[in-house]
This record gives sequence, C-alpha cells and structure tokens, in this order.
Amino acid sequence: MNTPFSICGTAFHAPRRGEVEILADALIEISADGGIAEIVESDHPHYQERKSATARSGDLHVLAEGQYLLPGFVDLHIHAPQFPQLGKALDAPLADWLQKYTFPLEARYAERKFAATAYDSLVGTLLANGTTTAVYFATRHLEGSLVLAETCLGKGQRAVVGRVAMDDERQCPDYYRDASPDEGIDLTRQFIHRLRALPGNEKALVRPAVTPRFIPSCSDRLLAGLGELLSVEACHMQTHCSESDWAHGYVLERFGRSDTEMLAEFGLLTRRSILAHANLMGGSDFDLLQAKGSGIAHCPLSNFYFANAVLPLRRVLDQGLHVGLGTDISGGHSPSILDNCRHAMTAARALHDGVDGRIAAAKRGAAPARITPSEAFWLATAGGGEALDLPIGLFRKGLRFDAMVVDINAPHSNIARADNDGPPDIFEKILCNAGRPNITSVWVEGRLVHRLS
Ligand code: GUN
Ligand code: FE
Repeated sequence: MNTPFSICGTAFHAPRRGEVEILADALIEISADGGIAEIVESDHPHYQERKSATARSGDLHVLAEGQYLLPGFVDLHIHAPQFPQLGKALDAPLADWLQKYTFPLEARYAERKFAATAYDSLVGTLLANGTTTAVYFATRHLEGSLVLAETCLGKGQRAVVGRVAMDDERQCPDYYRDASPDEGIDLTRQFIHRLRALPGNEKALVRPAVTPRFIPSCSDRLLAGLGELLSVEACHMQTHCSESDWAHGYVLERFGRSDTEMLAEFGLLTRRSILAHANLMGGSDFDLLQAKGSGIAHCPLSNFYFANAVLPLRRVLDQGLHVGLGTDISGGHSPSILDNCRHAMTAARALHDGVDGRIAAAKRGAAPARITPSEAFWLATAGGGEALDLPIGLFRKGLRFDAMVVDINAPHSNIARADNDGPPDIFEKILCNAGRPNITSVWVEGRLVHRLS
C-alpha cells in the first residue's frame, strides 16, 4: 500500500476516441491502494476546501507552471528480448531478419543473467518514456520469461507477459524451438501458473498471455492446444497477424484461409486477444475481430520496415474496433510510444495522399486515411487500456492511477514556447515534441516508479 496523496494541476486525457478533455487545475485524489478516489474539478463547490484539507495533511503535490498530467502510455506490442538489437539489423525482410538476427539473439535468454540484465535495462527505459503498461513477448524459455515478469514487478510496471510458443520445424531453427506441441503447451501452462503465483503479484499487476509467436512458427496441434489452454486459463492472448505479404501469404497457402480466420478456428480470438500489425487484413477479418471483441496493436514504425503496407487505421477507428499502439521493439527502433503516435499520424497521411509522385494526385492515395493528434493520443492511452480490458488509460474515479508529469520547461526540451499558446496548443506541441527529458515523474498503480533526476 502507498500513502494516499493528491495532485493538483492541469491534466490532458482522451476519455472519448478523438476528443482531448482538458481538466484545468483539477484535484485528483489517489487512494492508498493506487486507485483514483476522486476527481474534484475547479468549479466544484467544495474545491477550495478539499484542496486546503489535503494541503494541511501534507500530501498535496501541486504542479508548477508548464507541468501537465497525462495518463501513462500503453504499449500493446514489444519483444523484450530484442532490446539489445534496438536500432540495428533492420536491413533484411521479416523472414530473413528472424533467422539471421532475431532467433540467435532470443536463444541467448536461456541464460538467466543475460535475461536479467537486458530486461532491467528495457523496463527502466520504458518507464522513463512514460510507458506504464507494456504487453511483452518474452522468449520460449520458461525461466527467462519469468525473469521478465519479476523485473516488471520489481520496478512497478503494469504488464502482460507471454512465454513464446513456437514448434514448427519449417520456420523455427533446431536451436530455438519447442521440442513438440505438448512441450509448447505444457511450458505455457507452467508459465501462466508460476507468473500468477509470483511473490508481490497478489494484485495481478503483471498478467500472463498465451503467446503463439505467429501461425507460421506453430504446428496445428500446438495452436489447437493453446486455444484449449486459453479457454481454461481465461487470460490474455497475443500473436502476430497478417503483418507482411510473406506472413499473410504463408498462412493463406497453408490453410486456404486468412490468418484471422485461422486464429478464430483455433479458439485464439477472445475479448482479451491482441493481434499485432493486422496490415493485410480484409473487411471480413475486421468484422470477425469486432465480433470477437479482440484488439489490434498498431505498430506504425515497425510497419515501415517489415509490413509492405500501411494499416488502414482510419477505417479501423471508424469501425470502432479495439486498437492501440505498439513499439514492436526491435522491429520498431524507438522505445517511445509518443514517437509511435507521430509515426501513426505520418503513416496515415502517407496513405491518405499516396507516395508515388508519378501517379496522378487524384489516384495516388487511399483517402480518407488521416488521423488527428487527439486520435493518436487516444490510441496511446485509453485505446490501449480498452483493448486490454483493463481499468487504465484515463482519469476517472474508480480507475487505477497510472500517470506521468510532462514538463514543457524541462532542460533539454524540444518544445517551442509561445506566449499565446493555450492548453489545446500545448497539448498538440506535447504530442509532437515531448520526449524523455520532459517526462519528470511516472506513477503506476499510485506508486512513483520513475523520477527524472
Ligand atoms: N513475426 C514473428 N516474429 C516476429 C517478430 O519477432 N517481430 C515481428 N515484427 N514480426 C514477427
Ligand atoms: Fe512483433
């Protein structure tokens, strides 16, 4: 338990898709169990009284001029073991990149010490960038994957963690493969049970996910067994789906049906399933996702390298599907969800206008495809929380207090100040130019987990 405290200041959040709400000088009361006990707005009749009462008890934190409160960011798709190769090895297409760089790196997580060092560095970096909830692929190692869960618990990050299941000899190398479908299922079951029982995880800050890497790396028996396990364990599920021409085409050729249809067939699509990428899904795939309530992790930066296409995000948003953002470390070379907000806006603009100047302007793009800064912010916060079916992502009584302070006056900031900027201008500037130097405090579940020194 923490000591209860209150924060008074201006907060930005997106309780409705596409709309930023500005809570000017609001008093947010955080209870000892890390939840939002009350939000007292400045026009409330008892505002001054409540503020003075908390100030007297010594637990009031008043934001300074230029400081703003934002909900913590939700990263729906990260490969934690790939952090050591962040920012390199992006010269090959997906299938080659996996064999040449990624599987050899992931195989090293058989060693506990290697895992502990890499995961400590990654989780610290993500918290410093404001990521309060992360949805992780670990590796196929049981112990190493538990090290990741322990690291999140130790540092106080909310997380969903999966031990990666992968057994198909055609796509997985001998040195990095579950020995059989039964082994893949059994290790996944053990992982789920051991993660849930970890000391310090009584409130399920860290949750397990059934994690078939993607259909090409799994046998039919493994996929079917994981589907059965999912129905018993009722936990989250994550996988890659229709990411690139190669991955999408591989599944079509193997089954004569789409990735999404096959995931449904194997019992892997539920309200708590997160499908990474989804770039090449068709209309009926989107409808199937909607019927199941599953969500999409949009990974706009990674998609520029591996996907061969841009997700039709405008359509996904307009259809009302569950969707949030993913960094896809290390397919994406930035650990920052704010960066990915910018890449999501850029990618959507490129899709809208088209990119090949040799084609006539009227035929060049796939308009309407643009998204607004408020929509990008919603994806990074409330959208991610909704996709995970967790009570996070915005400021509302009863939800968990996962938040950060962004200081636009911080040293080394890239945010341009102007004397006529009102809060809506500042919001847009934060979305475009805030970065790690501006994120001065981060809380998860009411606990201070990062402070810029
Ligand atoms: N598909 C299967 N594995 C991976 C991975 O590690 N990264 C990405 N981007 N796509 C994948
Ligand atoms: Fe990925």
